[in-house]
Amino acid sequence: MTSRLVTNIGELVTWEPDRPIRHDAAFVVEDGAVAWIGGPGDTPATDTVHDVGGAAVVPGFVDSHTHLVFAGDRSAEFEARMTGEPYAAGGIRTTVEATRAATDEQLAGTVARHLQEMRAQGTTTAEIKSGYGLTVHDEERSLAIARRSTPETTFLGAHVVPVGTDRAAYVDLVTGDMLRRCAPHARWIDVFCEDGAFGVDEARAVLTAGTAVGLLPRIHANQLRHGPGVQLAVEVGAAAADHCTYLTDADVDALAGSVTVAGLLPGVEFSTRQPYPDARRLIDAGVTVSIATDCNPGSSYTSSMPFCLALAVRDMGMSPLEALRAATEGGATSLRRDDVGHLRVGATADFVVLDAPSYVHLAYRPGVPLVTSVS
Ligand code: NIG
Ligand code: FE
Repeated sequence: MTSRLVTNIGELVTWEPDRPIRHDAAFVVEDGAVAWIGGPGDTPATDTVHDVGGAAVVPGFVDSHTHLVFAGDRSAEFEARMTGEPYAAGGIRTTVEATRAATDEQLAGTVARHLQEMRAQGTTTAEIKSGYGLTVHDEERSLAIARRSTPETTFLGAHVVPVGTDRAAYVDLVTGDMLRRCAPHARWIDVFCEDGAFGVDEARAVLTAGTAVGLLPRIHANQLRHGPGVQLAVEVGAAAADHCTYLTDADVDALAGSVTVAGLLPGVEFSTRQPYPDARRLIDAGVTVSIATDCNPGSSYTSSMPFCLALAVRDMGMSPLEALRAATEGGATSLRRDDVGHLRVGATADFVVLDAPSYVHLAYRPGVPLVTSVS
């Protein structure tokens, strides 16, 4: 058993119910888990000591929505959008072509590079989706590659209907052979429920088939316009309804009484020039919210949780503390994990030391590399 004392913490965010933030704090890590929390005056003896010199320490970020298994570049599409072109779901097909043409080594290299980028910015848990293969072989290898890096893998064969394929036949494939081959590599099943992707009955069929083989449902919903995706998420007990950009009062009410986390992905609105989701309305209604990057080459090519957190504070009506909670504990809830996203006694000791006296600097100093170390 090895033990480490982390001490001289100016501000420690633990999300303990009675005391979510401590000042002048210390904690002990034993065998990778938080074993003790207190002040620097009464610390137990440990094998090693890590003095952070008065810095702020926060839980590692939980990025509950990424699409890291891809190849190719869509910067030209981004450039066109910034000069007035609208975002359309169909751009996904460009990445599908490049992904199918890539070797396993190239795809694995891309995943590893982005995960490294994410970790350097404080992300310690990441979900990764398939969805740029759209054949049995390419979806299966996408998930197998993702699985080497995270247990939080999501089968997204239902991302779009591939070019030249009959819709009904493709839904049959996704709910049949493709699901059978992909399920062993996945924990979650997801569907892009949106005009231009899958309708509500198709989405329900996909999630129901996934659930029947033991996968847990999550959904891309209400990204580009109002629609039935959020209501479907609540109906099937999905862990997450991600995007939530266009919501009716009925959608907000349904989420508020449910087990479904509303996943907010502000990098998407930033890079598609869509209106930001209204986080304030969701939080005031009692909905649990998460913030994630949605890191993908089309709609949101950022790997930075601090960037997304800053956008959420500036443009979505969240306080810095609410945004930090959504990027840590909210992400963990969205992945149905209670071992990460907080630093209460018993948690996995995933934590970030900031080059700042307070977590507020994450939003106050946007674009500045504030992460000193990630454990
Ligand atoms: O989450 N919404 C669907 N899928 C991705 C976009 C993928 C792409 O444009 O390549 C998203 O935004
Ligand atoms: Fe996505």
